[in-house]
Amino acid sequence: MKTILVTGGSGYIGSHTVLQLLESGYKVVVLDNFSNSSAESLKRVTELTGKNVTLVEGDIRDADCLNALFTQHKIDSVIHFAGLKAVGESVAKPALYYENNVYGTLHLCKIMEQHNVKNIVFSSSATVYGDPVELPLHEALPTGTPTNPYGMSKLMVELILSDFYKADPSWNIVLLRYFNPAGAHPSGRIGEDPNGIPNNLMPFITQVATGKREYLSIFGDDYDTVDGTGVRDYIHVEDLADGHLKALTKIEDNAGLFICNLGTGKGYSVLEMVHAFEAASGKKINYKMVPRREGDVASCYANPALAEHELGWTAQRDLQQMCEDSWRWQSQNPDGYAK
Ligand code: NAD
Ligand code: WQD
Repeated sequence: MKTILVTGGSGYIGSHTVLQLLESGYKVVVLDNFSNSSAESLKRVTELTGKNVTLVEGDIRDADCLNALFTQHKIDSVIHFAGLKAVGESVAKPALYYENNVYGTLHLCKIMEQHNVKNIVFSSSATVYGDPVELPLHEALPTGTPTNPYGMSKLMVELILSDFYKADPSWNIVLLRYFNPAGAHPSGRIGEDPNGIPNNLMPFITQVATGKREYLSIFGDDYDTVDGTGVRDYIHVEDLADGHLKALTKIEDNAGLFICNLGTGKGYSVLEMVHAFEAASGKKINYKMVPRREGDVASCYANPALAEHELGWTAQRDLQQMCEDSWRWQSQNPDGYAK
């Protein structure tokens, strides 16, 4: 039975991935400092699967903690989600983001190497493409210049890990470029639980639906898109989690350095999202048009062909399911895991 270390495993994407790993027979060790999550998500994962997770509360920047973890557990591969992800906060606190995301990952990989663990799946982002030069985005396109320190931290980690591989090809490194995760586990027991005012569209919409927020501000209606609002490739978090299991299989077959989009290939505008959510939830979403948000691009969606070809992965869930599952989670847990 393989043992997987999941850093950031109690967070949004991590908890859904841990659940699928347990269901697929992996042993799971989670390392999380709970800076953006709590242990409640993993309690619920255990409740849903009937299986336990080994939980280590600690930080990827803490050498003693990592050394103890790798000594105590025979880790086969690492899925590395731990990181900070608020774009606006990264502009205000660049040092925090580079320290946590870039130094943290470098530190983790150095200690992995010392323990001869050289298999890693890393949470990258479509943000590394910068302002798209062509659409859909495919992996052979050059990376661009992300417009904020969060995005830069993802690009820097991609470059660092690529150099690790060049220096030592016994590493197996999968860089997964996520598009826009949304949705929740269909049970409604685990989901996205942002701190404070959500930055991302779907959690903002669901909080308008529960009455927690009065209206959605739509950032710009003058883009060159179907209805003037921004277009993104929303991907169900369950599909994303499945992509990580497929990436582990690829690692077991000696992935080398493998860079891959995880997206559906379909773009939806903000207004299309609002209408799809209204249809799925039966709730009216009030919105106001406001000026564009700095750093936003008009459209961003994936060419997912490489994931299909190399991982045997395609997104199975559609927008309606994303909206239904997000709504089930939010309506049953209006205060997230606090309840
Ligand atoms: P999340 O905040 O829910 O999960 C991240 C987890 O990492 C949290 O549980 C947090 O407590 C933990 N963490 C942060 N810094 C840590 C550290 N130094 N040591 C140990 N644990 C730490 O975020 P998520 O949405 O699940 O995202 C997971 C990963 O995917 C992140 O790296 C994120 O940047 C990346 N990503 C997310 C999206 C998205 O829109 N959600 C898109 C692209 C990439
Ligand atoms: C989606 C669309 C907004 C909120 C960001 C990061 C990226 C990745 C995912 C995270 C855009 C519009 C949003 C609102 C709105 N990483 N919107 N009103 O900006 O595509 O990507 O999250 O870890 O790196 O940049 O996602 O959900 O913020 O926005 O009109 O209140 O919704 O303008 O068109 P984005 P998003």
